[in-house]
Amino acid sequence: METRGPEVIRDKEAMRKWSRSVRSQGKTIGFVPTMGYLHEGHLSLVRESRKLADVTVVSIYVNPGQFSPTEDLSTYPSDFAGDLAKLSAVPGGVDVVFHPKNLYDYGVGEEGVTGSRRIGGGGAVSCVENGGLGHETWVRVEGLEKGLCGKSRPVFFRGVVTIVTKLFNIVEPDVAFFGKKDYQQWRIIQRMVRDLDFGIKIVGSEIVREQDGLAMSSRNVRLSAEEREKALSISRSLAKAKAFAAEGQTNCTELKDMIIQEIVGASGRVDYVEIVEQESLEPVEKIKSPVVVCVAAWFGTVRLIDNIEISGFA
Ligand code: PAJ
Repeated sequence: METRGPEVIRDKEAMRKWSRSVRSQGKTIGFVPTMGYLHEGHLSLVRESRKLADVTVVSIYVNPGQFSPTEDLSTYPSDFAGDLAKLSAVPGGVDVVFHPKNLYDYGVGEEGVTGSRRIGGGGAVSCVENGGLGHETWVRVEGLEKGLCGKSRPVFFRGVVTIVTKLFNIVEPDVAFFGKKDYQQWRIIQRMVRDLDFGIKIVGSEIVREQDGLAMSSRNVRLSAEEREKALSISRSLAKAKAFAAEGQTNCTELKDMIIQEIVGASGRVDYVEIVEQESLEPVEKIKSPVVVCVAAWFGTVRLIDNIEISGFA
């Protein structure tokens, strides 16, 4: 199988130009947005894109807009050379890696730059505002962003949706790929694209796990060996909840309690355990139609998320 290194583009105008030229040749563009430190989960999205689109663009950009000043932006792992090697090894390769330096830097004197004015109040401030770059346009999906991760990470989804909007406007893809590992993120992007008529197809891809069940995440490298072992309580309890539901245990309070006990028993700190309807992400009391069980928990200083879909059991 042919393998080749991707072209690296750092400038947003050059990226847009590349996409438009490819489009003018009648080719479709598949897009995989990432924050780098790539693993098999990311690569599964790339492979999906290779199947469904003529060319594939992967973005690698650690977006300060989705981190609050107290979160792990400064310790977020990165390995650009390693990422390029992994992408080159994907059968058929990747056409472009878009790796911008700062997507919030609009240049001095450009219209709209307002210096260091801080916006966003109520403690809900991102690293972009904290850095005083003057960016002040945010895209929000107001209902879906409220629950689950939105509760403990008040600027997170606003930052994700805004950067994905910016990336869509720069890359102009036909189809974009998101992992169900970040279930709420995937649903929010789907809704944003529908509500704002982006005309981009959004594909949700299945969660890729380590052999022992741990959902792959760039943050897993920050777990000690002991924490990593204990973190298996998340995927284990989720699988158990699905099995219990299949056996007729459809009471969500009891299923959630079982998960919390497993995680706390492994000395994890639970952020939330919720059982929600798959599209609206509204909590349910009893499993009657398709739901997703979502978990966020801390092991040491690392916050992990995971989920499992369960179809209805009447
Ligand atoms: P990042 O965490 O790098 O993830 C990039 C994409 O890979 C997301 O769509 C995520 O859901 C998917 N992914 C991560 N781990 C996965 C796994 N184990 N199985 C399947 N897919 C997985 O998510 C982000 O970056 C950012 O928020 C981003 C969308 C790039 C915006 O900044």
